[in-house]
Amino acid sequence: MDTLDSVGLGTMGISDPESITLAIEAGYRHLDTAQVYDNESVVGEGIRWAEIDREDVFVATKVWIDQLGYDSVVQSVTDSLERLGMDSVDLLYVHRPRGEYDPEGTLEGFEELVDRGSVHHIRVSNFEVPQLKEARQHLQAPIFANQVEYHPLFQPTDALADAQANDYTLVAYSPLANGRAGDISEVVDIARTHDTTPEAVCIAWLTAKDNVVVIPKASSKAHLMANRDAAELQLSTNERTRIDDIERETELFPE
Ligand SMILES: NC(=O)c1ccc[n+]([C@@H]2O[C@H](COP(=O)([O-])OP(=O)(O)OC[C@H]3O[C@@H](n4cnc5c(N)ncnc54)[C@H](OP(=O)(O)O)[C@@H]3O)[C@@H](O)[C@H]2O)c1
Repeated sequence: MDTLDSVGLGTMGISDPESITLAIEAGYRHLDTAQVYDNESVVGEGIRWAEIDREDVFVATKVWIDQLGYDSVVQSVTDSLERLGMDSVDLLYVHRPRGEYDPEGTLEGFEELVDRGSVHHIRVSNFEVPQLKEARQHLQAPIFANQVEYHPLFQPTDALADAQANDYTLVAYSPLANGRAGDISEVVDIARTHDTTPEAVCIAWLTAKDNVVVIPKASSKAHLMANRDAAELQLSTNERTRIDDIERETELFPE
């Protein structure tokens, strides 16, 4: 399986395995963690509590910027797997192209992990278009995904155009503007029209875009279920364009 559900789970800040178990019970099959979130063991435990077959859930982790040298990549992912309690992860990301990142050595380490069977797919995060082009030149596998911040107040349309032109997935992180969706007046207006929440509108607006999947973080059962259901909400072209046209910009996770 190489296609991600349109709504996965962001786990940054989740410290209780019960939230992961609840998410799986609510239908989530794509779980996104990272070495730097310090919760890989929580995610692993939550998956085991859910008693789901390992091959039925997509697990993603990310290598932090101080572990991106060839040897550190291999060692740090071995440590990640131990924390997760798994033999392999489905998706492995370069968290940011910073610090120890070096397209040749880093990606060679990632490919070594694929060859060993420890990683199924290589992904990158926070890459700008020129960095993506450079990475592609060093990778044997033609298709990978880029995980970037994307919500109504931060719209990297160049990254989206690249994903669509080269047919890979854009994983939109912080799709609810990190909990600030209710402060965006255009989104609030549209939510009122549909008798739904601003969070649902953010998710529906993003998942309507070609090649985009979202990974909202949620910890309560109510939020987990509402976010999965939100992908079913149909916004009109005018409503989607109204959000596309928002020019105010707030980047929540700058370099
Ligand atoms: N690659 C990167 O560099 C990077 C950077 C940042 C984030 N990420 C990933 O993206 C994920 C999501 O981003 P994020 O955590 O910044 O923020 P987010 O998903 O935009 O927003 C999460 C916040 O929204 C609340 N929420 C969730 N569903 C809701 C609903 N239906 N109604 C009202 N409030 C709701 C959550 O509260 P509750 O917890 O109480 O439900 C939480 O406070 C992260 O967990 C992480 O996996 C990646």
